[in-house]
Amino acid sequence: MKTKIQELHSKIEKFVAENNESLENFRLEFLSKKGKIQSLFADFKDVSKEEKPLVGQLLNNLKNVASERYELMKSKMTTAETQEVDYVDLSMSADFEPIGARHPISLVRKEIIEIFNRIGFVISEGPEIEDDFHNFTALNFPEEHPARDMQDTFFVQKNPDIALRTHTSSVQVRVMENQKPPIRTISPGRVFRNEAISARAHCIFHQIEGLYVDTDVSFADLKQTLMYFAKEMFGAETKIRFRPSYFPFTEPSAEMDVSCNICGGKGCNVCKYSGWLEILGCGMVDPNVLKNCNINPETYTGFAFGMGIERITMLKYQVKDLRFFFENDLRFLKQFTGAF
Ligand code: PHE
Repeated sequence: MKTKIQELHSKIEKFVAENNESLENFRLEFLSKKGKIQSLFADFKDVSKEEKPLVGQLLNNLKNVASERYELMKSKMTTAETQEVDYVDLSMSADFEPIGARHPISLVRKEIIEIFNRIGFVISEGPEIEDDFHNFTALNFPEEHPARDMQDTFFVQKNPDIALRTHTSSVQVRVMENQKPPIRTISPGRVFRNEAISARAHCIFHQIEGLYVDTDVSFADLKQTLMYFAKEMFGAETKIRFRPSYFPFTEPSAEMDVSCNICGGKGCNVCKYSGWLEILGCGMVDPNVLKNCNINPETYTGFAFGMGIERITMLKYQVKDLRFFFENDLRFLKQFTGAF
């Protein structure tokens, strides 16, 4: 029995696993229930009483040595396997990593900004969380104006003087408070209105508003500026028309339509067979607004305009549902660029 243990002992100590199969054979030969060590344990009952303590010790030791050897070889095999996975073939061509691209709203915002930059309008930005003065009061909103209603605007519950801005006209108030005319600025940004989400409306959308204040600014300047914009944005053939409208902060006020860029004015389902598309609101800055911002309306006049970027993007790219802009579905976004 002792010599048999000795033999197995030296065999076990010399064992080197070449692959998973030889490791498994080792386990079967020595460590399994039907293996050699287990059968020695079975023979143990025949060992004489005097020898039992020593042989028992040798047997237990043999079993430990075998399991240690097994574990050692197993760990060597797994590191060898992972090394194989880590191995990099440097001659292989690199995987193609898709890079991101601009969102259609960002593309159109950039385009609008560039058009106005070319005629001297500079960007100004302001906070999305505004106080009542900058969003409403300075802009000549009467106390009972519906936009001040909880139904239309997101107010901060603990402080009803604070709301999410409903337009970026609030930025123009901040500019007028802090700068002396001549002022020529555009303010792009996110705005918030308490609207039910549908194909045509969302509670968050993007605007670009413009403001020009100087001596002798007239409605003719407003028309020329917006005509230039419309032709740059929708093509040289584009015509514009103004319809009278009302905003508390401009007087007179107008809404501007461009000739439908799909049918060229003949009438189609995009322009609902009218030949025209409504794209922005505008007007001459109300003298009260200038006064509220410490600009003397006797010396200065100005015009302002504001448009929704989503609306312009929908017209430009024939997008039928505004919700697509907020869903970040790659199948939609991929269509605006070749970069994916
Ligand atoms: N602030 C208006 C809006 O959010 C747009 C506008 C801006 C109209 C400037 C006239 C002049 O609808």
